[in-house]
Amino acid sequence: MKPIKVIIDCDPGHDDAIALLMAHRLPEIELVAVTTVCGNAPLARTTINARRIMELLGASDVPIAAGCASPLARPLVLGTADGPSGLDGSPYLPEPTVEAVPVHGVDFLAAKLREAEEPIVLVPTGPLTNIGMLVLKYPELLSKIEKVVLMGGAFYRRSEIITPTEFNIFCDPEAAEIVLASGLDITMVGLDVTMHVLVEEDEFAAIEKIDTPLSRVVFDWLKFYEKLHRGQMGIGGALHDPLALAVVVDPTLIETREAHVSIDRTGTHTFGATVADYFKLNGLEPNVKLASQVNSAKFFEMLYRSLED
Ligand code: RIB
Ligand code: CA
Repeated sequence: MKPIKVIIDCDPGHDDAIALLMAHRLPEIELVAVTTVCGNAPLARTTINARRIMELLGASDVPIAAGCASPLARPLVLGTADGPSGLDGSPYLPEPTVEAVPVHGVDFLAAKLREAEEPIVLVPTGPLTNIGMLVLKYPELLSKIEKVVLMGGAFYRRSEIITPTEFNIFCDPEAAEIVLASGLDITMVGLDVTMHVLVEEDEFAAIEKIDTPLSRVVFDWLKFYEKLHRGQMGIGGALHDPLALAVVVDPTLIETREAHVSIDRTGTHTFGATVADYFKLNGLEPNVKLASQVNSAKFFEMLYRSLED
């Protein structure tokens, strides 16, 4: 089976870092390029973090290009899950030996799509600013995108009240609207499923047992990440971005529902919320497949596999 060509657009970020690691380590994926965006930290931080992570992985041959430093139409509100550096608590990471590509991330994304012999899968794991700008600036290249599997969103389900606004969409709702209206094949891997792939005691024990250099780094990343989640929500660290990447490897990890998803950009208490219309009540055709169920055990098996020597 030929590896799936993937470009990850990310804002590392502890969970972004693990998604990059899985993309590099799993044979099912060929990581063609990485682009960075503001979000968990300012762009300069997310970019140096991406470069150091790829250096650590021995993947400095994968080109990295920095994209947008602020959302399309509003000031940047930084995420709070990763500390000011975007990778606080990280064990030693090597200094990068390769410069970022001296091209804006959006233009670099376009160049990689243009030169690709077959369509590429895009995996955005941060705010959708770069992808929104790609859609606006290079509509002729959308046919070179096989599908978008993004980490983002949180949805009503039956009688449940609104789940919390999800950061990637909240941070740049205008970009999200542009991407959702693009006609691309979009799978949204949102909090409904990512909050079920939590690193708790058993998962820490399993990662510790693998005992490889990479598993030890991931263990340290997750110890910091889990501490913050524990403090904020009383739960373990949710592996948001790694699940989005894992879904590219094995789409059966999740069940999806088609829906028309809109973004609330005027609400006081619901600003940035993603609202799913499953039944065409607003007369609009579905624009996404949103993840509704996840096989957590199967996901963790894939994560552990990526950490083994
Ligand atoms: O809401 C989770 C998302 O926000 C993840 O992508 C995490 O890295 C943060 O960017
Ligand atoms: Ca992220």
